[in-house]
Amino acid sequence: MDKILVHGGHPLSGTVKIGGSKNSALPILAATLLTKEPCVIRHVPDLSDIHYMLQILSHLGAQVERASGVVTVTAEKIDTVAPYDIVRKMRASVCVLGPLLGREKEATVSLPGGCVIGDRPIDLHLKGFAGLGASHRIAQGNVKVFAGELKGGLVSLRGKQGPTVLGTDNVMMAATLADGVTVIDNAAAEPEVVDLANFLNAMGAKIEGAGTRRIIIEGVKELHGAEHEVIPDRIEAGTFMVAAAVAGEKVTLQRVDPGHLDAVSDRLQEAGYKIDVAKDSLTVHGNGVTNCTQITTEPYPGFPTDMQAQMCALLSKGKGVSVITETVFPQRYMHVSELKRMGANIELDGATATVTGVEHLSGAPVMASDLRASAALVLAGLHADGVTEVSRVYHIDRGYECIDEKLNSLGAQIERVKVKG
Ligand code: EPU
Repeated sequence: MDKILVHGGHPLSGTVKIGGSKNSALPILAATLLTKEPCVIRHVPDLSDIHYMLQILSHLGAQVERASGVVTVTAEKIDTVAPYDIVRKMRASVCVLGPLLGREKEATVSLPGGCVIGDRPIDLHLKGFAGLGASHRIAQGNVKVFAGELKGGLVSLRGKQGPTVLGTDNVMMAATLADGVTVIDNAAAEPEVVDLANFLNAMGAKIEGAGTRRIIIEGVKELHGAEHEVIPDRIEAGTFMVAAAVAGEKVTLQRVDPGHLDAVSDRLQEAGYKIDVAKDSLTVHGNGVTNCTQITTEPYPGFPTDMQAQMCALLSKGKGVSVITETVFPQRYMHVSELKRMGANIELDGATATVTGVEHLSGAPVMASDLRASAALVLAGLHADGVTEVSRVYHIDRGYECIDEKLNSLGAQIERVKVKG
């Protein structure tokens, strides 16, 4: 198990390249199961979550080859059961349900449990499959979905917390091979859903409306192989934007889609940071003082829940009182108690965090609890006095490719140390 030691107070400047999107690559890799023909996916980030997905594809019988960011999957013959041992490591494994159901008319996947960011139900995925005529059964911790035939239908995927990203992906993938037209109402409109729809269309699917709340899928008989390049990771980009705000002089992010980052840019500008935007890059200018702002996490195009912890770390040191409300995962505040150990003044009341900026944070031993919370602790370490020791960093490696090396290339002083036992 590695630990990360962040030596605070070193200014960041320079240029950093953003990798391919984890949350796009995962469902896109699952979608390769929809065809017998080879699919070539480029700009796949080198992350442990991607590694788990490739293991699942191999286990299901696909041939998987990987060379420097390019993954080729050929799923000539496939099995329909994804085992607990691999699935339990990553909740996003659930997105093999849609392609397996579409192609083989049945799929069994170990049911994902809750996780530290909150309850992670799949009722909306199952409701969507039911709209295509599929039934499901839960036994021994597995969910099995099956259908004699899949028929297009009208499904609404709105839950208590809004639309579902992987639920939309799953139903869209299954519907590509259903008989007739499927309409998904209250669909998620995240850029990752659009990226998946673009890949499916390249495979011969007929999907319109991805990126809006209504997606229309006209089922086809079969899909063929295709090549695709994954979009830039907007959450990795947002995290580096916050790093630039926390400790930057002038940091340029390359290979980003600035349009995907509007909500994050708005909040950073309100907190006092100047941002220059170009076609596929953006530059954040540090200003030394963070002003307060109000943030409510929402489905895209609102402020992303996956950036909430990082903003909490930024706003902890600064001027005034910021209020953060988390509407997507109302319990996603595991980073708060750790930030408080570094001197942050944060009060939690249900899904709302009131962050009163302090003048100094001080380095401390802290523990990562999930992917974005661990990124937040590294960011807090950048503007804390002394050394911040972040343990359980395997969480951060799930979603950030060499975050320590990338930050060091900008001038940070971060060490990764091996811990025995
Ligand atoms: N929900 C339900 N029923 C369902 C599915 C979801 O009630 O059947 C609820 C969830 O409990 C949550 C809300 O709906 O309150 C939204 O969840 P969603 O299904 O959209 O989340 P997800 O698809 O499982 C993806 C990302 C998450 C990101 C969320 C929200 C991937 C692999 N994961 O999860 O990313 O936070 O969308 O944008 O795409 C991360 O990268 O750190 C991460 C957690």
